[in-house]
Amino acid sequence: MSALQLAAFVGTKGRGSNVKAIHAAIGEGRLNARIALIVGTSRNAPAIQWAQESDLPTAIIDPKAFADEAEYAEALLTELRAAGVDAIALAGYMRRLPSGVVSAYRHRVLNIHPALLPAFGGKGMYGHHVHEAVLAYGCKLSGCTVHFVDEDYDTGPVILQRAFPVEEGDTPESLAARILPGEHAALMDALQLLAENRLTVAGRIVHIHPSA
Ligand code: GAR
Repeated sequence: MSALQLAAFVGTKGRGSNVKAIHAAIGEGRLNARIALIVGTSRNAPAIQWAQESDLPTAIIDPKAFADEAEYAEALLTELRAAGVDAIALAGYMRRLPSGVVSAYRHRVLNIHPALLPAFGGKGMYGHHVHEAVLAYGCKLSGCTVHFVDEDYDTGPVILQRAFPVEEGDTPESLAARILPGEHAALMDALQLLAENRLTVAGRIVHIHPSA
């Protein structure tokens, strides 16, 4: 079984904890992958600064520098192909992935979302906004979802979910802190399933096959 040649897409708003968890899981032999590239929209992203200090390969591609989404997609694909990437993890990337990249890497792009989709997903639902909305709605349960990325926000086929209780007195910060370790575990599990070729997709159903 060959290692995933993984690109992690990070955003400016996250802490970079998911990409750090990927790096740690690879180092500890829990994930059969290599970080081939860390892609950011800005040099100021905490995850990019960490990657550069850790001597991991980075590419800064600012979508605002391109005339349209197709040109942004081409720039991304050029970098991804040059780095030999065969799978992508969106780890705090808060934008919609250009459709050119989605179709070139169909069912090879995973996103981690901090809620139980299809609840609390969609444009603008990222990071603390998600936890605020869960609390405002009065949910008693939240969690995280790893899903394949399609052309829209948070709508692709679900791979894994983990649930956590909402507790009396929770704040967006306390709820996020309870869920975050689950995000890391679910993302690693899903990536390892992908590395082991154990995921197939039929319509919107992801089948998880037993290990060989
Ligand atoms: C994570 O909680 C992730 O689930 C969320 O952004 C955070 C990034 O944290 N992603 C979304 O909300 C996507 N819609 P990190 O930078 O510490 O990995």
